[in-house]
Amino acid sequence: MEKLKVGFVGAGFIAQFQAKAMLQARNMELSGLLARKGAEALSGWAREHDLGPATIYKSVSEMAKHVDTIAIYSPNYTRIEIMEEVVSAKRAGGRVRNVICDKPLGRNMKEARRLVELAEGANLNTAYFENQIHMKAVQTQLTQLAPVQKAMGPMVLTRSAEEHAGPHMPWFWNPMEQGGGVLSDMGCHSIAVGWYALTPVGKNPTFLKPQSVSCELGLLKWGQPKWRDELLKKHGVDYSKTPAEDFATGMVTFKNPETHQKVKAQFTDSWMFEKQGLRLFMDGMGPGYAFEINTLTSPLNIFIGDQAAQAIADQESALEKATASRGLLSVQTNEADLYGYVDENRDAAEKFLRGQDALLNFSYGLEITRLVMAAYMSSERKQVVDLTDASTCQELENYIPLIQQGRGAEVLF
Ligand SMILES: NC(=O)c1ccc[n+]([C@@H]2O[C@H](COP(=O)([O-])OP(=O)(O)OC[C@H]3O[C@@H](n4cnc5c(N)ncnc54)[C@H](O)[C@@H]3O)[C@@H](O)[C@H]2O)c1
Repeated sequence: MEKLKVGFVGAGFIAQFQAKAMLQARNMELSGLLARKGAEALSGWAREHDLGPATIYKSVSEMAKHVDTIAIYSPNYTRIEIMEEVVSAKRAGGRVRNVICDKPLGRNMKEARRLVELAEGANLNTAYFENQIHMKAVQTQLTQLAPVQKAMGPMVLTRSAEEHAGPHMPWFWNPMEQGGGVLSDMGCHSIAVGWYALTPVGKNPTFLKPQSVSCELGLLKWGQPKWRDELLKKHGVDYSKTPAEDFATGMVTFKNPETHQKVKAQFTDSWMFEKQGLRLFMDGMGPGYAFEINTLTSPLNIFIGDQAAQAIADQESALEKATASRGLLSVQTNEADLYGYVDENRDAAEKFLRGQDALLNFSYGLEITRLVMAAYMSSERKQVVDLTDASTCQELENYIPLIQQGRGAEVLF
């Protein structure tokens, strides 16, 4: 079997998750990697698990000479310089032909558009990694409901949420580095999966045309003095000066271009979720039918009493972003598969080996960035943002949310 040779940029949280996912994908190997931190450990893990040679490189240009695919798994503020290096390496005759970028494609539309242009200019196949669309639960409800949709008509309302108690690294909390707060970080997932679940079976992921976006943001927990201090102590980020939202909720309205039916995707995202750990929740309603997904529902529950709790070394071995190590714990046994990482890797490898873009390419990632920017604009202006208005769409191209500029205090307090 031909295997796609992948080189990772980054060896942190998502790179480790993706390496676990690739073990279950078969048609790809971890050929190389580079990172500011963590490269040795991930390379050792990959070789131990026979995932590939995982050679450590010193530069993207060097790695691009030896791999088919560069996967960008580094922080949001590093994307453009990495892509520029990939493009120069390809132009200089390097082996690289494809590029993967995990969400978000950019912190704003300018950055995301630059990535699209760089990839197109160098004739690179692209994959925008939005794992939730590839979740087996999301795909299976579509297959199961396909004949029902045919008989009753497509889905009309989706509600999507991604929630946990807050990110693991300081740069995520820093709105200038990350791009904002939870809306930039996780709103992109919920908006994308809502849009996708509304899309009539058999149509492409951008078939439904976005019409308008409304959104409200809040700083409900991490702006309070006690939690602000904790953030400053733990991550060196000062939310009294440069805050970002820890709660976002809103609605995107789409129009079916064939039937003119309007449909709605509601999204809710938070970094102040006080339950077992990460929860992905989605539901959808069509005329006469529905689906519901909740990743905190597991066939495995474990109970650990107070006295036994000392024995727990790592609460996150139960569940991503787990916040407790005792009581009744939900345990997920294969999170890389549950959250869709395995299937997004399989899709990218299959398509790249055929010389094509993945199901979700960079242009799709740019569309998601546009919807996220429209959501920030709506919350800043306390208005519904009309995406059928040409001047608003033009404005979004260069729009940088106040929160991303480090001016969140003007809108959050
Ligand atoms: N799909 C998801 O659910 C999901 C989950 C987590 C993170 N992500 C995305 O993955 C990306 C990385 O997030 P993370 O949680 O792994 O972050 P992280 O901080 O845990 O890891 C980042 C890695 O990149 C390396 N790095 C930093 N700057 C670099 C540079 N200039 N060149 C090369 N390597 C560099 C770091 O040393 C580290 O190894 C982000 O864009 C994030 O949005 C996606």
